[in-house]
Amino acid sequence: MARQPLVQAEVPDDDKNRDAALRPRFLREVIGQQSVKQRLEILLRASKKLKEPMSHMLFDGPPGLGKTTFATVLPNELGTTIQMTSGPAFTKPADMLPFLTNATDGSILFIDEIHRLPRVVEEFIYPAMEDFRVDIILGEGMNARTISMPLKRFTLIGATTRSGMLSSPMRDRFKIHEHLDYYAVAELAQIVTINARKLNTVVTADAALEIANRSRGTPRIANSRLWWARSFSASERDGSIDLATAQAALKMSEVDLLGLDKQDRRYLETIINVFDGGPAGVEALAATMNLPSDTLSDEVEPYLLREQMIVRTPRGRMATRKAYQHIGKPWTGKEQDPGQGALFE
Ligand SMILES: Nc1ncnc2c1ncn2[C@@H]1O[C@H](COP(=O)(O)OP(=O)(O)OP(=O)(O)O)[C@@H](O)[C@H]1O
Ligand SMILES: [Mg+2]
Repeated sequence: MARQPLVQAEVPDDDKNRDAALRPRFLREVIGQQSVKQRLEILLRASKKLKEPMSHMLFDGPPGLGKTTFATVLPNELGTTIQMTSGPAFTKPADMLPFLTNATDGSILFIDEIHRLPRVVEEFIYPAMEDFRVDIILGEGMNARTISMPLKRFTLIGATTRSGMLSSPMRDRFKIHEHLDYYAVAELAQIVTINARKLNTVVTADAALEIANRSRGTPRIANSRLWWARSFSASERDGSIDLATAQAALKMSEVDLLGLDKQDRRYLETIINVFDGGPAGVEALAATMNLPSDTLSDEVEPYLLREQMIVRTPRGRMATRKAYQHIGKPWTGKEQDPGQGALFE
């Protein structure tokens, strides 16, 4: 599968290992996302009582907020197995067949980046999702015939950072949709404290809060900031993390007071310095920054939008006054009424 290395390159190896080591194993260990948790608890209890597999579920939300975490916690709760794969790993229906036929009753098939499944593969799994069968075409031309093969009653869990890119027939076949949103600082501080303990590292409450505050609402980023602070302290201090150590570590990794990193600031500088504050299209920004546009729209922009550093207008992204302030440039931009850009040009 020629595209696989590309996909893996998007998540650096160290991040992956870190995620696996720190990922909660049971629902009760998952912090925050209270209402999602409550609904999942109900579905788990129902599935056990009714002795039925859980409904197919779709998790969406920006990277690092816990989509894979929720998917991997469920089989532990159910005492079943999970097969994990990812949309871009498939080019043709036959690639999907082993996953479907290996699925046992009540087991989970997890497809990450499900919006990147080729359409032919998507169509192939519709009957699997609806009626637990697949239609296989044998032979070619005049002699072709279709055989229908029954499958075990499994649960498909899809994860996507772009639910908008999912075809609507696919989306409609998921009975449960859960959207994960950014975390509150207190929740991230709790995650930092728990994970420091897992890493045998002492972190003070104010240091955990400082790291949480500068993690862009994202558990994965909190984990990597914690990991860095721990390395920093092991090398430069006594190995534990207090407020001053956390601040020194974050300063050294060029994470600013709002938690933005070099890439986030470069985005703001590009839109302000090169595009005069915008409007600029994401493709143009990506080309100037020499980054894939997916990285910008999936990883960089969602948080900047949420923090109102940028706004999306019909003609492209625009930097706000807050963005100018943040990178220390006098405001020369155009006043922006979000969503109305095109009307006033
Ligand atoms: N609710 C949570 N409670 C505790 N830790 C969490 C939670 N959500 C995420 N994490 C931590 O953040 C890490 C990243 O989360 P996860 O891999 O589930 O994100 P994701 O949404 O699947 O991201 P991606 O879109 O990049 O696949 C996990 O390994 C875990 O350590
Ligand atoms: Mg994931």
